[in-house]
Amino acid sequence: DVSPKLVIGNWKMNGLREQTVQLATAVAEGACSLPDDVKLVICPPFTQLERVSDILETVGTDSKLQLGAQDCHTASSGAHTGEISADMLADVGVKYVLLGHSERRQNCGETDALIRRKVQAAEAAGLVPVVCIGETMAERQDGRAATVLASQIDGSLTDSFNGVLAYEPIWAIGSGVTPSRDELERTLFLLRGLLQSRLKMDDIRVPILYGGSVTPAQAPTIFSIGVLGGVLVGSASLDAKSFLRIAEAAS
Ligand code: G3H
Repeated sequence: DVSPKLVIGNWKMNGLREQTVQLATAVAEGACSLPDDVKLVICPPFTQLERVSDILETVGTDSKLQLGAQDCHTASSGAHTGEISADMLADVGVKYVLLGHSERRQNCGETDALIRRKVQAAEAAGLVPVVCIGETMAERQDGRAATVLASQIDGSLTDSFNGVLAYEPIWAIGSGVTPSRDELERTLFLLRGLLQSRLKMDDIRVPILYGGSVTPAQAPTIFSIGVLGGVLVGSASLDAKSFLRIAEAAS
């Protein structure tokens, strides 16, 4: 596949001012020397978006390293105390937005229907939605993973979805455990088929990322899977060297 691999760092609820400046600056400077076949995105918490946006502009990362957010609201503005809209994100230079992360599905009760409305809001604001899906360990052990993934794809994507899909098995997030190479490859092919039927297209342009305990040590094995569009990195993205080493493995 000739499209660039996408390496997205999800900082989750981490990043006070000083740490943010150091991390974003180090990632931005490192990103500039990466080859053209890899693109980076970093998703800091809302409070740091504008600061990181300024750093990326100062370093001049352009499309090599872009800014992402971790969520958005379904409405573009209005009486929604505590919420942030996709338009507000676009206004501070955000290009990508994570939607339906399992931590939001589990801890904030987000449903596929809600996530789909957020996808619509992101699309309307010109952001690239990165929709996260994944099965629990119990669903995997019961042999229900494929059914769960199919229903998440059916329910959370829009009919004309043109964003990114991130497959994050919940049991692999923050656990140090990843699927085997063969298992992951099989699942990625399954997801490609599900996308083809959901979007009624033979030639799917939607990159499919893997997320869950991605480290520099595992990155070469994960990137050896041709159908993989990139990775969504959690804890390893909080260390600039580790994140950049993962990005190097993508090339
Ligand atoms: O969004 C990122 C994922 O939840 C993966 O997190 O790399 O810390 O396992 P992790």
